[in-house]
Amino acid sequence: MKITAAITFLAASIAGVTASSKMTYKVISLVSDNQTLGVIVDEEIYPLTSTDDASTLLHKGKAPIASTSYKYAILDKDNTTSVIDQESFSRDPITNSSKTLNEYYGRSWNSKTLDQVPTIMDPLPIISRIDSDLHIDGEIPTIHITGNQTAIDYIHTNAESDIDISGLTLAYISPSDVKSFENITLAVSGHSTRSYDKLSYKVKLQKDDDLYSYRRIKLRSMSTDASYMREEIAYDIAKSIGMPTSEYSYVRVYFNNQAIGLFGLGEVLKNPWPKNEFNNGKKFNQGALFVANVSGNQGGNSSSSAMGAPTGQNQTESGASGQQKQNQTMAGSPPSGGMGGGGADGGSGVLQGSSSDLSYLGDNTTLYTSQYPVKEDPRTGSANYTRIVELTKFISEQSNVTSDNSAAGLWEQYMDVTSFLRGLALEIVISDSDGYFTMGNNYILYDDLDNERILFSGQDFDLTMGTSINNATLMNSGNYSDFPNFSTRPLTSRLFLVPEFKQEFENLIVNMTKALVNPDILTSRINQLYEMLQEDVAWDKSLPRVAASNSSLSSTSRGMGGSSVDDQTFYAGVYGPTNASTSLTEWLALRSSNILTFFNAST
Ligand SMILES: *[C@@H]1O[C@H](CO)[C@@H](O)[C@H](O)[C@H]1NC(C)=O
Ligand SMILES: *[C@@H]1O[C@H](CO)[C@@H](O)[C@H](O)[C@H]1NC(C)=O
Ligand SMILES: *[C@@H]1O[C@H](CO)[C@@H](O)[C@H](O)[C@H]1NC(C)=O
Ligand SMILES: *[C@@H]1O[C@H](CO)[C@@H](O)[C@H](O)[C@H]1NC(C)=O
Ligand SMILES: *[C@@H]1O[C@H](CO)[C@@H](O)[C@H](O)[C@H]1NC(C)=O
Ligand SMILES: *[C@@H]1O[C@H](CO)[C@@H](O)[C@H](O)[C@H]1NC(C)=O
Ligand SMILES: *[C@@H]1O[C@H](CO)[C@@H](O)[C@H](O)[C@H]1NC(C)=O
Ligand SMILES: *[C@@H]1O[C@H](CO)[C@@H](O)[C@H](O)[C@H]1NC(C)=O
Ligand SMILES: *[C@@H]1O[C@H](CO)[C@@H](O)[C@H](O)[C@H]1NC(C)=O
Ligand SMILES: *[C@@H]1O[C@H](CO)[C@@H](O)[C@H](O)[C@H]1NC(C)=O
Ligand SMILES: *[C@@H]1O[C@H](CO)[C@@H](O)[C@H](O)[C@H]1NC(C)=O
Ligand SMILES: *[C@@H]1O[C@H](CO)[C@@H](O)[C@H](O)[C@H]1NC(C)=O
Repeated sequence: MKITAAITFLAASIAGVTASSKMTYKVISLVSDNQTLGVIVDEEIYPLTSTDDASTLLHKGKAPIASTSYKYAILDKDNTTSVIDQESFSRDPITNSSKTLNEYYGRSWNSKTLDQVPTIMDPLPIISRIDSDLHIDGEIPTIHITGNQTAIDYIHTNAESDIDISGLTLAYISPSDVKSFENITLAVSGHSTRSYDKLSYKVKLQKDDDLYSYRRIKLRSMSTDASYMREEIAYDIAKSIGMPTSEYSYVRVYFNNQAIGLFGLGEVLKNPWPKNEFNNGKKFNQGALFVANVSGNQGGNSSSSAMGAPTGQNQTESGASGQQKQNQTMAGSPPSGGMGGGGADGGSGVLQGSSSDLSYLGDNTTLYTSQYPVKEDPRTGSANYTRIVELTKFISEQSNVTSDNSAAGLWEQYMDVTSFLRGLALEIVISDSDGYFTMGNNYILYDDLDNERILFSGQDFDLTMGTSINNATLMNSGNYSDFPNFSTRPLTSRLFLVPEFKQEFENLIVNMTKALVNPDILTSRINQLYEMLQEDVAWDKSLPRVAASNSSLSSTSRGMGGSSVDDQTFYAGVYGPTNASTSLTEWLALRSSNILTFFNAST
């Protein structure tokens, strides 16, 4: 009888695979060669016998529709009745489809509905952003990059160099979509984080390929951000105030047979980004696009970038000169009042030619090329620096002592003033440690050919919201003019002498603080992001890191104040307490109340 029962049981299992197998189950998991995935439907085990053409991480197979519940399991490949691991929760039966979404092993959800940051300003008139599914709020797709592991190892051991490797394949798997791209190009990216053991990357698809209309994406490591959500929130705010920049979402990343971790997914502001942002994805009279780059400093002793910047060897990105060896300390003490890199002694001779801060460097356009590397040429011809020379010259000719509203119209001829006011107010309200004010870094200058003037916007907001490489007291002061370099930067020392601009800037700071940088507004989204990311952050933290991390700086400079972000819990990064940098929500409460107190305003 016993034997018969066993045989009946086996027969039932096998029968299940054929007769009543109405449902296709699909689940992402990395398992070793001697394992396979299965689905346990109403207590019976069914192996998932195939993997998707796009990626071996996506396991598929047919099994009956569950009547009570189903869950995925990891099975011994040679004996698929042997369950090595199974999900700790049950999934509800699918009733409205013959296949599941592309689910992820061990995550009980496929998508979440999160509260949105409210939109408080119309997008700048120049913006006409394409509709794209690149960033789906509340989902975490998986990116699986496969190919030459030797080449991947090489860029990891040489992370401080800008090396492109091509010939790799990228599979993108979201709950409802699978895409595959041949011959992608992968490189390590970033300036300050190349000595970290979790690196950021940039990915480029072949010409004519696109991921939801984008060809180039950033995979942001979030290595400096124990909350894993500073960039997410900052890009939310940038969008809310109508700035042209990336949007942001999350993705799980695998290289070959190794899990790399949870990353932020951002847009690289290169083609086809301008047409996606400014003309709904269609060709147009595109102007040149430049990105201010603090590493572009030639000569001088200004530091390259924030936080444990690689000490220069072979840093070829954007023409860095290699003279970038100033010791940096975290959370507090660059020399003299929080001058970041290249900002000290505003206006003195030291600055000349050494900072991407809109200083006028003379009429020789060559002198601007390393400060503001060209990211994209205009549609016709190639980028030249005449517009930037004209702008910086104009700025330099404005009085830094007196001005009145009569100059306003003139300013508008050289720059899209609204973009500058909003972008600079954004830096202030998010306490940006790595933007125009603090570092002369991470901002774009776009040549708006229709209006023949320069547009400003920001990117890369990892060092914000309490992650400070400057004097935190000044970064968080409610008095915006305390902000590092506020009154010495060539632009802001003059622009804000125009009363109308100063008033608008102050209105922006107050409005953005009340409507956005406000615990009452952001806390629900932060809490929901915390919930959404919790398991993935735990997974991320559990993974072995792949970078060589052989920089002498890395051990002391990772994280804030010498302690590693990885040493802080996710909870503490979001909610505190932390003994080094400020947690996200502590910063939020402080920033909000400091600004409102200064302006004697209430929420
Ligand atoms: C399966 O493979 C893993 C690693 O590849 C190995 O550690 C494990 O011992 C293997 N298990 C069996 C039962 O062969
Ligand atoms: C397969 O695994 C099951 C459950 O662990 C076990 O009872 C059975 O003996 C195994 N069969 C073989 C052939 O190893
Ligand atoms: C099926 O139902 C689930 C849960 O209600 C829903 O999220 C999903 O979008 C539905 N799928 C289809 C194909 O309608
Ligand atoms: C893999 O990359 C290494 C290092 O770039 C290269 O030497 C090797 O030829 C590549 N192998 C293949 C099969 O392309
Ligand atoms: C792959 O991409 C690289 C870099 O974009 C290019 O040089 C190469 O020709 C491409 N190879 C193939 C086979 O298309
Ligand atoms: C870095 O530059 C040095 C000197 O120019 C050179 O010897 C070394 O091979 C380079 N390293 C890499 C990884 O390119
Ligand atoms: C960096 O700090 C070390 C140790 O404090 C010191 O020996 C070295 O001179 C400093 N380098 C610079 C460029 O300040
Ligand atoms: C930060 O700035 C404040 C105000 O100027 C000053 O009192 C404090 O000493 C500074 N802190 C550090 C660590 O430099
Ligand atoms: C412009 O500057 C570059 C770099 O300093 C120099 O080589 C070039 O001769 C200069 N051109 C003119 C016209 O002065
Ligand atoms: C430089 O670029 C501007 C557009 O920004 C264009 O109008 C001008 O003709 C270009 N000048 C030269 C010399 O190419
Ligand atoms: C104004 O500019 C002059 C000359 O560039 C400089 O000497 C002076 O310190 C500046 N004044 C202020 C208030 O920044
Ligand atoms: C700020 O808000 C006030 C009141 O809602 C509004 O009148 C003003 O136009 C806003 N200013 C800016 C710059 O958004």
